[in-house]
Amino acid sequence: MNAQSIIKGKIHYVGVNDRTKHLFEALWPLPYGVSYNSYLIDDDDTVVLIDTVDICYFEVYLRKIKNIIGERPIQYLVINHMEPDHSGSIRLIKQHYPNIVIVGNKQTFGMIEGFYGVTGERYMVNDGDYLALQHHKLRFFLTPMVHWPETMMTFDEAEGVLFSGDAFGCFGTLDGGFLDARINTERHHWDEMERYYSNIVGKYGSPVQKALQKLSTLPVKAICSTHGPIWTGDNIPKVIGIYDRLSRYDTEPGVVIAYGSMYGNTEQMAETIAAEISAQGVRNVVMHNVSKSHSSYILADIFRYRGLIVGSPTYNGQLFPEVEALLSKVMSRDIKNRYFGYFGSFCWASAAVKRLCEFAEKSKFEVVGNPIEMKQSMSELTYVQCEELGRDMATRILG
Ligand code: FEO
Repeated sequence: MNAQSIIKGKIHYVGVNDRTKHLFEALWPLPYGVSYNSYLIDDDDTVVLIDTVDICYFEVYLRKIKNIIGERPIQYLVINHMEPDHSGSIRLIKQHYPNIVIVGNKQTFGMIEGFYGVTGERYMVNDGDYLALQHHKLRFFLTPMVHWPETMMTFDEAEGVLFSGDAFGCFGTLDGGFLDARINTERHHWDEMERYYSNIVGKYGSPVQKALQKLSTLPVKAICSTHGPIWTGDNIPKVIGIYDRLSRYDTEPGVVIAYGSMYGNTEQMAETIAAEISAQGVRNVVMHNVSKSHSSYILADIFRYRGLIVGSPTYNGQLFPEVEALLSKVMSRDIKNRYFGYFGSFCWASAAVKRLCEFAEKSKFEVVGNPIEMKQSMSELTYVQCEELGRDMATRILG
């Protein structure tokens, strides 16, 4: 028995830390790494494993499991989510524990077979079904599209522990402890929760709202997500509040200015607009050069603030490529309720502003101020137009 792994009663943490991978999903930077959390319930004669870990960490994972249960068998493997950062070790777990019964819903088993060729005994659950152990009673809640269609959550009614899958998770490894009370979560976990949400789950605001509604009456005493710290005490309403706010696309007063600029001319437009917004009294002005800031950080700021202003040079008769990539990511997340302003530039044939206008129409954002188009470099008129756009956006934000 390893006392260090205990979360509560007979629930243990058996997750692992990844400080090697640079990009989560081969897309999103991991400056503080990421944890893949798995949990083990050692309930007298019955052992239950909740989710697994990335296959790269199987050896250390298995060692953690055996430190707790020795050579005893595991009866059940509950699969809350099938993305391979959590399901990656299913096949190897099945090889080590051939009689294990996999618990999932209708959507889960096809994915297990498809990804891993694993079949065998299974326990298929519907929304609200339960699995009663000696002491623990696991109730299953289907929460589709938080983050994939098969996602579900498992609530241990005996201890009030919610195994929530990706929900309420964040980037950042668990250095030393895994309980929020034993680590300094202020260092980066909260910011990384917002970046995690906006990048990974951000498209699914409406399913997240449905899941929050479904879970709202549960007496939750601990949230065990598949990434990041275990949340307890006052942090439970805090993390639920963050998910509620982000999934409603609710915002704080502030403006993100995201721009591309090859030689600094378009950047001068951004600087002039930003200075005027600030002069009008908006304190949260966040500027991102899209060639330098990774889009994951820009998206997190766009999720946070009400105003968005985008600027782009014309490049090969199109938007600047990094601006185009950012706008595609914004569109694919169904972000709502933003004030939107835009500006652009060209050298000999204009295109960027026309493309930004098309984006504005598609996004259904509320357009603020007049679009500005600059030829080659700033003129007296461009300064005036940029200040006007800044003023209009500030008025709307402070409105
Ligand atoms: Fe952490 Fe959707 O997997």
